[in-house]
Amino acid sequence: MSAAPSLKLIERQGFAEDLHQALGHKPRSISPKYFYDEAGSALFEHICQLREYYPTRTEMALLRQHATDIADLMGPGAQLLEYGAGALNKVRCLLKQMRQPHSFVPIDISGPHLLQACSKLQAEFPTLAIEAQVGDFTGELRLPAAPTPGRGRRFGFFPGSSIGNFSPEQALDFLRLSASQLRGGGLLIGVDLIKDPALLHAAYNDSEGVTARFNLNILERARRELGARFPADGFSHSAFYNAPLQRIEMHLLSLRKQVVELQGVEYTFEAGETLHTENSYKYSVASFQALAGQAGYRPGPVWTDEQHWFSLHWLHSPID
Ligand code: AVI
Repeated sequence: MSAAPSLKLIERQGFAEDLHQALGHKPRSISPKYFYDEAGSALFEHICQLREYYPTRTEMALLRQHATDIADLMGPGAQLLEYGAGALNKVRCLLKQMRQPHSFVPIDISGPHLLQACSKLQAEFPTLAIEAQVGDFTGELRLPAAPTPGRGRRFGFFPGSSIGNFSPEQALDFLRLSASQLRGGGLLIGVDLIKDPALLHAAYNDSEGVTARFNLNILERARRELGARFPADGFSHSAFYNAPLQRIEMHLLSLRKQVVELQGVEYTFEAGETLHTENSYKYSVASFQALAGQAGYRPGPVWTDEQHWFSLHWLHSPID
């Protein structure tokens, strides 16, 4: 009897298929989701603490400052869904202010990490009903039942400007899907704002080189998990602001003409050719509200910092 393939093996196969696809088609590009293995997630945590990477601390300050107003908007008995929940750091200050929450539903693709984060959270909030959902929140999910109508409403939380890593089309799809899940309630979402390109450049080219290691980790991961051969020191980190498209682009830049090998298949990179690894879209308050409106949301209050670097949007999802 053959054993069922493990989740790790299935994930590896998906990575191999997507990497072949990326290397075999020009311009070469791969999903940023492959950044987040164990090593990549630790590097991302480090990025969030860097002086140059302003989004995390700016959003955290906004959440602390406005948590009471946000809890008032939710009202008593609310159910809170967190999309792409991760370490559950930011939601704590909302949970502290919520009145008799019905439940907290963190959703994340990585089961072991989610369960670990939930048990820590449960120790801090012993009476909170936590209903963790392991899965891809961009697809259809079976969500736990919403509060009984009249007793509380359902809200979503999507912090970190992770929406910026979606193309505008993918962002619209996510907003449409979440609006349907949150009907009668709403969404609190963090969105990074268009700003001086020099500040953006510094945030994605930090002086300690952590973002560079985060980017290059995709190649390390391919070596570790798939035995791929990418010549040592053959690629460098490249991140720049594409002003017409209002996005930071991250690439792995080939430093010379070279051949890489994945599972017996060879791919040639010319000097200067890249593998595009991530986009991070920046919005204005108005352009994001317009996108949310297209998805069926009715924009509500928006909180920004004094420098206007980051925004927190409250979006109502009307019943009809
Ligand atoms: C997760 N995401 C919102 C980050 C961003 O800023 O786009 C990922 C990141 N990439 C480089 N630094 C941080």
